[in-house]
Amino acid sequence: MSEKIEAIKMTVKDRRSLTPSIMEFVLTPQEGTDLPGYGPGAHVTVQTPSGAMRRYSLTGAGDNPKQFVIAVKREPASRGGSQSMFDDATEGTALLVEPPENDFPLKKASKYLLIAGGIGITPIFAMARHLDSAGDDFNIIYCTRNAEETAYLTDLTEAYGDRVLLHHDDGDPEKLYDFWDHFAEPQNMHVYCCGPKPLMEEIKAISGHWPEGRVNFEDFKPVDVIRPDDVAFDVELARSGKTITVQSDRSILEAVRDAGVPTVSSCESGTCGTCKTGLISGDVDHRDMVLMDEQRQDHIMICVSRARSGGLVIDL
Ligand code: FES
Repeated sequence: MSEKIEAIKMTVKDRRSLTPSIMEFVLTPQEGTDLPGYGPGAHVTVQTPSGAMRRYSLTGAGDNPKQFVIAVKREPASRGGSQSMFDDATEGTALLVEPPENDFPLKKASKYLLIAGGIGITPIFAMARHLDSAGDDFNIIYCTRNAEETAYLTDLTEAYGDRVLLHHDDGDPEKLYDFWDHFAEPQNMHVYCCGPKPLMEEIKAISGHWPEGRVNFEDFKPVDVIRPDDVAFDVELARSGKTITVQSDRSILEAVRDAGVPTVSSCESGTCGTCKTGLISGDVDHRDMVLMDEQRQDHIMICVSRARSGGLVIDL
């Protein structure tokens, strides 16, 4: 966990299955801790039982919260993080949670269109709750594979009735929802969209002619930390005097942590900058979204980047 932000010690108070692959968790602070408030669209970073950090949107109301509510999707291809929430975060499990941050804040508008795909419903649900209680004008388009895979289906339809348009595509690209009618003419409304990459890319592509700031996105999909053709390599830790082997299915960060060498991290997806480490030598496959080209000669983000060939020497 990052040393820059004080994490909150929390406990899993409750968990319930929303769909076969999505679990909701209610987290409460250890006694005597007041939780910070947050606005709709906010997320928290949770240290999952595996040690990996994962970001999850908060679905509940953020004024004087007594608990944090998150929903976690089990990704069959993922390692660690969300899988370990499913398997190991049960009632009573202690978790460290970084205070809420908001990269997807709601701005004031006369009308809103909220678009969710799959697990992307979590920040959208928080926004709907907020807009509904404020009496604002909003509609939701919620795309999922089928009813069984639709988290909060009953909650949403009961609360918002025909303001929710549900679309199921059965996983068939031919049946994807056609958003064009909503975007053909720029409208005096704000759009908030969270979902899988293809959905977000489609909305970006068809809204390019809208005024800047009207169409807003939240994308939690991390970069692929491990790729199928990754291989093992050695890393010399210059300051610690150790040489570690990074196996094909581990990141440098994980291997460093396994070796007992202290380091810091937060997003573990190459986006936050926390794990920036000096690079002394080696041919790096830079996979982060943080470093400028001129920084890549002598720095590496160890949560995602790897050796392109041979070994590396880093300043740890
Ligand atoms: S931990 Fe965020 S970039 Fe590595």
